[in-house]
This record gives sequence, structure tokens and C-alpha cells, in this order.
Amino acid sequence: MARTVLVSLGERSYEIQIGRNILYQLGEYLKKNPVTGTVGLVTDSTVGPLYADDIHSLLTAAGVKCVIHSMPAGEANKRLQRIEEICGTLLEGGLDRGSLLLALGGGVVGDVAGFAAACFMRGIPFLQIPTTVVAQVDSSVGGKTAVNHPRGKNTIGMFHQPCGVLIDMDLLKTLPTREICAGCAEIIKHGVIADSNLFAHMEQHAGLIREGDLSALEYPIARSCEIKAAVVAKDEHELGLRAILNYGHTFGHAIETASHYATFLHGEAVSLGMCAAAVLGAELGLVDADFVSRQRACLTAYSLPVYWPDLPVEEALAAMKKDKKARAGTLKFIVPTSLGTVVQRTDITDGQALRALASLKQ
Ligand code: NAD
Ligand code: GLY
Repeated sequence: MARTVLVSLGERSYEIQIGRNILYQLGEYLKKNPVTGTVGLVTDSTVGPLYADDIHSLLTAAGVKCVIHSMPAGEANKRLQRIEEICGTLLEGGLDRGSLLLALGGGVVGDVAGFAAACFMRGIPFLQIPTTVVAQVDSSVGGKTAVNHPRGKNTIGMFHQPCGVLIDMDLLKTLPTREICAGCAEIIKHGVIADSNLFAHMEQHAGLIREGDLSALEYPIARSCEIKAAVVAKDEHELGLRAILNYGHTFGHAIETASHYATFLHGEAVSLGMCAAAVLGAELGLVDADFVSRQRACLTAYSLPVYWPDLPVEEALAAMKKDKKARAGTLKFIVPTSLGTVVQRTDITDGQALRALASLKQ
């Protein structure tokens, strides 16, 4: 049975369908939402060989022509050049303003294909088919699309909402355990910012989830989508509330930059970032030491990093100040106030930020 979560954005509202083996409903989806002409499918060099042929067959059976564009996998390929290449394939395939683009892959494919959909012919609809935990609980929802510039992550991009999100949990069966755990960092993040029950579920089911038991992931995926959908519906363009979804990200992005995107997966950097944010919260007297250690223990249960002895603290602080989330040099930190609530703070001194970063070196 598929669950449906609505992202309520007026005329740009869309449904997130979550279930087991629901990829095979794609033909039905396209019948309900008729497409004209050829459909474009963007995937990557790892996911494509696993699932693109199945989708191609499904579309052919539904009488829909499809051109496939496979980009090289990995964060290093989240570059502007990929957009030109994707648009080249779409033009060659005869896609036009009424065409639909499918994004089949993790957060990298979703962000790149979403940006291509936002630009191609000044914007065409796209459907997210996320294949990692990060993408199923976070990146496929909310319409943030982007590529990286050598000077900064996600610095070239647009808000472009998908027309739907099809979450087939069975696609996670081929995902390596390290990637599953990295995605769990984003689920734990949702627990800390909005729902202590979700956090407790992640504490209690770490063993099953790490073993790849998809039934233990059903509730956290659906609940994460609900939390994100509710926040995005209130603040689509991150003018205020949406920033809470960046819990752990101010520190985390700096850690990704300081490690040259080579040491940690995105979710792992977010794990370290959440640890630093919790220490900051404790220094501000907003949470106690028990909160810091409880969050650390939960992350550790997923083998997520909670310390980085080699962290170049000063370099990370400099990276933070250049982050696009800094406005006029003012950094915004999302700081926990309890399990399930956070506050936004723009009054954090360099000294406080440095001490929070330094706490990761132990
Ligand atoms: P990813 O897309 O690089 O996927 C991780 C790896 O797993 C890749 O090698 C990929 O090819 C492989 N893979 C994907 N699905 C697979 C499957 N089912 N089986 C086997 N292998 C599979 O990384 P990610 O963690 O999914 O996403 C990280 C990216 O998402 C970052 O660029 C981050 O900035 C972005 N992000 C965006 C948002 C947003 O709101 N737009 C939110 C969170 C993260
Ligand atoms: N991942 C943070 C956001 O979508 O706003």
C-alpha cells in the first residue's frame, strides 16, 4: 500500500507517493498525468545500469517514448557542464516545452536533473524518482535544485518544484550500507528539529535499519517527508522557517569544503555538523550534556562520524563564512532547544563557532 504525502503549494502542489515496488506504477502515473512527446530520463552511471532499462520498458509498454541521459555518478559531477550535456540529449531527443523529465537517482541526480528541468526551454516539469535514503527523505522534496561551483557547494541553482515524487523503497535494496546510514543522518535531523518520536524510532531500530530491513525504514521515510512537506508548504523559498531543515548544515557544509568533498558523504558531514550544533546549544544553555550525548549515541549507532580529529578548525570557519547561507557575513545557526525543537540564531560569535568545531577534534 502506497502512502501519499501532499506538498501543499497552491497551483504547484504535488504528491509524494511512498511504498514498496511502486516504481511499477509509473505507467499508471503517466496515464493519469498525460505527457506529450518524448520523456527524458536522467540517471547516473551506477543507478542507470540497475534500473533505467526497467523504466524504459515500463514507458514503452505505456506507449511513451523515452530518451535516457546517464551522467557520471558522484558529487564531483554536480557541475554546470552536466546541465549543458543533459540539455543536449533532450534537444537531440526532440523534447519540447511540454515534455516531462524523470530524475532517477540520489540527491546528485535529483539536484542536477531538477536544475536542468528548471532551465530547459525556460522550465519543464520533472518527476523525482529518488533511489537513496538521502534523496527519499530530503532532496527529492521541496524543489531546491543546484550544481556546485568550485568556489562553493550548491551555489548555482533555482527553486523548481517537481510535479511529483515517486518513492519506491525497494530501490534501496542495492544501496550500500554506508549510503543507507548517511541518509539516516538526515532522518535523525528531522527527529531533532521536529519529532522526538521519530528520533526514538531511529534509536530503537538502528540494528534492523543497518541490516537493510526496509520495513523499519517505512515510518521514518514517510514521517521525514511529512515534516519536510509541512515546512516547505509554509516557507517554500527559505525566507524564514525552512532554514530549520539546515540543522547541522552550517557546520556540515564547512566540513565538506574543508575535507574537499573527499572524506565524508554529505550525510556524514551533516552528522558531524549536528554534533557541533548540539555542543553550541549546550554552551548557550539551550540543551544539556545529556542531549549532546544522546544525539551522539544515536548517530554512532549508524556508524556516522561524531568526531573528526583532523578537522582544520580555522579553515572550516573560513569556509562557513563564505557559505551561501551567510548573508552579509552573518551566519545563521540552527541550534537545538530540546529533542524536537530548534531555534535560529544569528548572534553566534566566531569564538563560539570555533569552540563548537574544536569539540569535534576529541
Ligand atoms: P548521490 O546522489 O551521490 O548517491 C550516492 C551514491 O549512491 C552514488 O554513487 C549513486 O550512484 C549511488 N546510488 C544511488 N542510488 C543507488 C541505488 N539504489 N543502489 C546503488 N547505488 C545507488 O548522493 P546522495 O547522498 O543521494 O545525495 C547527496 C546530494 O544531495 C548532495 O549533493 C546534497 O547537496 C544533495 N542534497 C540536496 C537536498 C535538496 O534539498 N535539494 C537535500 C539534501 C541533500
Ligand atoms: N535540505 C534543506 C532544504 O531543502 O531546505
